[in-house]
Amino acid sequence: MPCTESSRQEACGASATRLIQHNRRMSRAIEITTERLILRQWRDSDREPYAALNADPAVMRFFAGTVSREGSDRDIDAWRSAIDDRGWSNWAAELRESGTFIGFIGLSIPRRALPFMPCVELGYRLARAHWGKGYATESSKAALRVGFGRLGLEEIVSFTTRLNLPSRAVMERVGMTNANEDFDHPAYPEGSALRRCCLYRLSAERWAQSATATGPAPGGP
Ligand SMILES: CC(C)(COP(=O)(O)OP(=O)(O)OC[C@H]1O[C@@H](n2cnc3c(N)ncnc32)[C@H](O)[C@@H]1OP(=O)(O)O)[C@@H](O)C(=O)NCCC(=O)NCCS
Repeated sequence: MPCTESSRQEACGASATRLIQHNRRMSRAIEITTERLILRQWRDSDREPYAALNADPAVMRFFAGTVSREGSDRDIDAWRSAIDDRGWSNWAAELRESGTFIGFIGLSIPRRALPFMPCVELGYRLARAHWGKGYATESSKAALRVGFGRLGLEEIVSFTTRLNLPSRAVMERVGMTNANEDFDHPAYPEGSALRRCCLYRLSAERWAQSATATGPAPGGP
């Protein structure tokens, strides 16, 4: 479940640490504009709608449970400080047309030790009202462009419980490939049907050959 991140960097490898130091020197929050969306730094006004989507059992059906207001606030605090610090993390996503907050999309370093670390992970979570419109795919493509282009990452991964077909479909639409490296995610209890997860990978080389890479560059500073 590509979704949380901590400020602890010890689990990241040397290359991720170098990247963070490099981006700290850039010291500017990255904001991404796509055709219909803005991916931006978090605001306090996002706290309520973000907690509301985390409290929706339909949104959280592939997770170990819903998330409380306190847990939602902790996510926002961690992502906000990562964006301040190095420019990128899970960004708040809003509709350009109305300014409505719809969820998050972004690049993060997983909080838990996982078999394929170090890695940078593409993740997304949208409020139910905004599913079925292509927003996750549109914004994920833009996040990948920033990750491979501006940040110079060599690879971006994504993972989810094997049963989360909507999430896997986004991964496939943006050009990621199932690495066939299924693993048990420690966030789920032993014996849970959700525990077995699949890993998708996309290398910078493969991304550069794809249509996603040659599309219009997302806006932003
Ligand atoms: C994962 C999640 C973001 C996927 O949302 P989604 O709406 O299925 O994905 P997209 O935003 O890319 O939208 C694609 C759908 O919009 C449709 N669509 C409608 N208008 C579109 C447009 N203008 N452009 C592109 N697609 C459009 C597509 O046909 C597709 O529909 P389909 O699923 O019936 O084929 C969403 O299910 C979610 O937030 N789930 C809860 C959290 C979660 O599980 N996160 C992932 C954890 S690993």
